[in-house]
Amino acid sequence: MMKLVTTSPAMQRIAELVERVAQTDSSVLLLGESGTGKDAFARCIHDLSPRRNQPFVKIDGAALPEDLFESEVFGFEKGAFTGAIESKPGRFEAANGGTLVLDEISNLSLAAQAKLLRVIEERSFERLGGKQAIKIDVRIIALANVDMKEAVRAHTFRNDLYYRLAVVAIELPRLLDRSEDIPVLAEQFVKQFAARNGRTGVQLAKTTLELLLDYDFPGNVRELRNIIERAVLGTNREIIEPEHLPDYLRSANRLMQSRLHKPSLAELEAVYIREVLEYVRGNKTRAAEILGISRKNLYEKMHRYKINLSRAQSVESLCE
Ligand SMILES: Nc1ncnc2c1ncn2[C@@H]1O[C@H](COP(=O)(O)OP(=O)(O)OP(=O)(O)O)[C@@H](O)[C@H]1O
Ligand SMILES: [Mg+2]
Repeated sequence: MMKLVTTSPAMQRIAELVERVAQTDSSVLLLGESGTGKDAFARCIHDLSPRRNQPFVKIDGAALPEDLFESEVFGFEKGAFTGAIESKPGRFEAANGGTLVLDEISNLSLAAQAKLLRVIEERSFERLGGKQAIKIDVRIIALANVDMKEAVRAHTFRNDLYYRLAVVAIELPRLLDRSEDIPVLAEQFVKQFAARNGRTGVQLAKTTLELLLDYDFPGNVRELRNIIERAVLGTNREIIEPEHLPDYLRSANRLMQSRLHKPSLAELEAVYIREVLEYVRGNKTRAAEILGISRKNLYEKMHRYKINLSRAQSVESLCE
């Protein structure tokens, strides 16, 4: 089972709730921005539940085109439509005894919503073209973006279905609103990606962590995970330095606005020189002009701050 990090008070409360609801068959609605961990928590609820050894099946409301929804979800009998040469069970049947995850429910058409509501209320359904009622026992976990409530208000999502699904509603906070989780999550991801490459003892420099703590993570946990993966793969060294983070995290502008880390002049100078060099694509004559210093002085500073131009840039500077 994947280890989910829940250090912040907000996430601790959620972890306790998740443990409790996992023991029940109640429908759960997990709400949260992209990358906050809805999928991860759905899996976690299943793994903690008495259904853990039963199927775990997912239906993605965004990926299934309207006309395929019914046949995929409910299955069909031979001859139900052109091309139905054999009977096929749908995902509801596949999930029987286990957990069914409905992802991105706000994208379900009203027709699909009506059908789902019926299955949830009656706990039985028929395959397309079938007459026999099939009884099923599934625990439903629905996932949605936070604007779900807006969809209910705007009547693009049925109120009655919403309340059926949201018996227990859990809203996963943005990473920005639980920055206590950043160091622990980052550490876990560092270990994970380092281990994949057979490396041990890899860790973040203090300044690297400070930059992460200052960032707002619009892509939430997923974005942090991607940033760490890139950083770990980007160096063979044991210590991950700020230079291994994407540029947008350590621009001069961001450093100046930093809440936690007030940069030294030398740090700002180094970051700014890098930015200017990137801007002029490695052309040192132009960079020196913009910076108002001599080329010789620029070289000295680049040497002092260990600024190496990337390969593409150095090729270009060869042609200066
Ligand atoms: N608390 C956590 N601890 C450890 N890893 C986490 C945690 N939350 C999320 N992750 C990881 O972050 C990534 C994104 O999470 P997930 O796919 O569950 O997000 P999501 O809310 O379903 O996003 P989307 O709305 O885009 O589908 C995954 O790799 C997941 O394993
Ligand atoms: Mg998801």
